[in-house]
Amino acid sequence: MNDDIFHKYCEAGRIAAKILREGAEEIRIGTPYLAVVETIESRVTEEGAGLAFPLNLSINEDAAHDTASPGDSRIFAKGDVVKLDLGIHIDGYIADTAMTVDLGTNSLLVEASRAALDAAIRRVRPGVSVGDLGSAIQYEIESRGYRPVSNLTGHGLGQYVQHRSPTIPNVGIKGGMVLEEGMVFAIEPFATTGSGRVMEKTRREIYSQISPKPVRIPAGRAVLEKIRDRRGLPFSRRWVNEKKTDIVLPALVRSQVLRAYPVLSDIPGSLVSQAEHTIIVTTDGCIVTTG
Ligand code: CO
Repeated sequence: MNDDIFHKYCEAGRIAAKILREGAEEIRIGTPYLAVVETIESRVTEEGAGLAFPLNLSINEDAAHDTASPGDSRIFAKGDVVKLDLGIHIDGYIADTAMTVDLGTNSLLVEASRAALDAAIRRVRPGVSVGDLGSAIQYEIESRGYRPVSNLTGHGLGQYVQHRSPTIPNVGIKGGMVLEEGMVFAIEPFATTGSGRVMEKTRREIYSQISPKPVRIPAGRAVLEKIRDRRGLPFSRRWVNEKKTDIVLPALVRSQVLRAYPVLSDIPGSLVSQAEHTIIVTTDGCIVTTG
């Protein structure tokens, strides 16, 4: 990795960490989701960075991929376990970081994913396998009485690429990829009071373009025009700001121009916490860009 790229990763990380920390302070009982999401997303542009994906705001049993819908009327309630997952980029070099805000009495659940992340980061160095990171994560979460979410993982990052190898499991697996100097990836443990597996809900707010093939319907063309500068990175229904997105976006998914990211949830009534940092592997350890 050359100095210029390294610098962009670190700068993206610094900005993401600052905005996430400040954004978390905005989360209070009675505050609208939409206000928090819009404030945080506009801070990213003010800092001169781009959004790598819409701010993920997922509550309680929802682990990932929710965000405010257009005109969202939901407000934070007492007892909510609130996950904020922010991805920003500078020239495509991504910082991906997440934290959990507890509006109830679930501080141990929040600590579980946080401690798991710290334990995994302490193990990162060239020659270590991703399975070892997963073991550390699983141990910290289970020793606090929760389950790690086994079908959500950390992921490698590249320029304008939000998910690539290596995959960082949240449970111990045998072997797996061996870490090398210069790898860039996000580690993101999820701790849950539920089953330890997430399933897709029908709610879909986040999409990305997967094919450049032409679209005949004018409403579909209008959507693609709006997201042309995304370079395949995810966008939200809220950003498109066109009429009938609830019909047009699913139609574009059916014709395989877009893919949808359904909300991912553990069982109803369960609670999920998340913590995430982006790291770069160095000769003898790692740098946490979002630390
Ligand atoms: Co991530």
